[in-house]
Amino acid sequence: MAEIQAQVEASALLPDSQPNDPQPTKDPAEDCTENGRSVGWESSEGDQYFAKLRRNADKSDKKSATYFYKFMRVIGREIDKATNAFKAQRVDSTSPAILDMCMAPGAFLEVALKKNPGSHALAFSLPVSSGGYKSVLASDLDAKRVFLDVTMLAADMDMDLIPEGHEDEKFLPRQLEEGMLFDLVICDGQVLRQHLRPPFRETREATRLIITQLALGLQHLRLGGTMIVLLHRLEAWNTVNLIWMFRKISWVRLFKPKSGHAKRSSFYMVATNVDSQNPEAVEAVKRWKRIWRIATFGSDEEYGKVNLYEDTSVETLLKDFGPELVKLGKTIWKTQANALAKAPFMGKQKPE
Ligand SMILES: C[S@@+](CC[C@H](N)C(=O)[O-])C[C@H]1O[C@@H](n2cnc3c(N)ncnc32)[C@H](O)[C@@H]1O
Repeated sequence: MAEIQAQVEASALLPDSQPNDPQPTKDPAEDCTENGRSVGWESSEGDQYFAKLRRNADKSDKKSATYFYKFMRVIGREIDKATNAFKAQRVDSTSPAILDMCMAPGAFLEVALKKNPGSHALAFSLPVSSGGYKSVLASDLDAKRVFLDVTMLAADMDMDLIPEGHEDEKFLPRQLEEGMLFDLVICDGQVLRQHLRPPFRETREATRLIITQLALGLQHLRLGGTMIVLLHRLEAWNTVNLIWMFRKISWVRLFKPKSGHAKRSSFYMVATNVDSQNPEAVEAVKRWKRIWRIATFGSDEEYGKVNLYEDTSVETLLKDFGPELVKLGKTIWKTQANALAKAPFMGKQKPE
């Protein structure tokens, strides 16, 4: 069990945010988490603990994949029990369609397919040969599995012409036809250290992965559909803005599974009844695609200027969304604070 725990926790590394992001709000539970985090960061035992988790997470053989699958299934069921997220909300009598942007080993997709009788799925995942996780999704489930690097879906991201001589030539043809719609979209992608990719992608990969999942997921979400999205650091500027944007077009809940994610900054956003045709949604898809182009083809200088949410001021965000964010985040911060207080590398110190 320790090995399984290790792999799942390591899957929640690599927060997509910067240490200097504006910190829009403070809450007692957050203070507690911050305190727990700083004690953890100063602890060399903490470094060793997380290094071991990372080593375990890099194994992708059959045995590890099965362990990881079972543990992800525990997490999936925990999310579903708390939020009913995996139940597609139907607007007509067609069979529910599910899109999983980063499926392997496939546990969330299994939970979703079983929860929605008669449903079918399209599932992308990084090929094992590129360093991706192995899929152990049962072969009798109705899922079309396509192994590819989603961040290279250039045509789907509206980039048909690739600049000549570009360093990375493995750009992919269209996979999602216009008008192809899904009732439930799962965005649980996690950048993997063992994913072989050209050096220019290193610092940009977390951004490229999350915005590709979000752009294609929201673009192909049926009106009133559900999105489940893995996020990191609730107090980071980009994360807060993203949640605020979804809050304008859907019913948002945040959930931090106690299994696997408790000590990490990671958590899930469950957005239901999403108005995917709302101008805010359409604009967000366009913005994510624009940023993907800069992150993929732009110079370091161009990429350095990228600001996912350039139009928002901290004051406006605090005024319009601050109190609600605190409400949404309370349990997330509290869960992490409690877990950090009990972490093996924290010695006898407890958050104040
Ligand atoms: C946390 S795991 C997903 C677990 C899955 N939700 C489950 O329940 O079994 C993260 C996944 O993201 C995939 N991934 C990472 N980078 C990717 C990329 N560029 N394209 C496609 N998949 C990617 C990994 O291969 C891995 O399968």
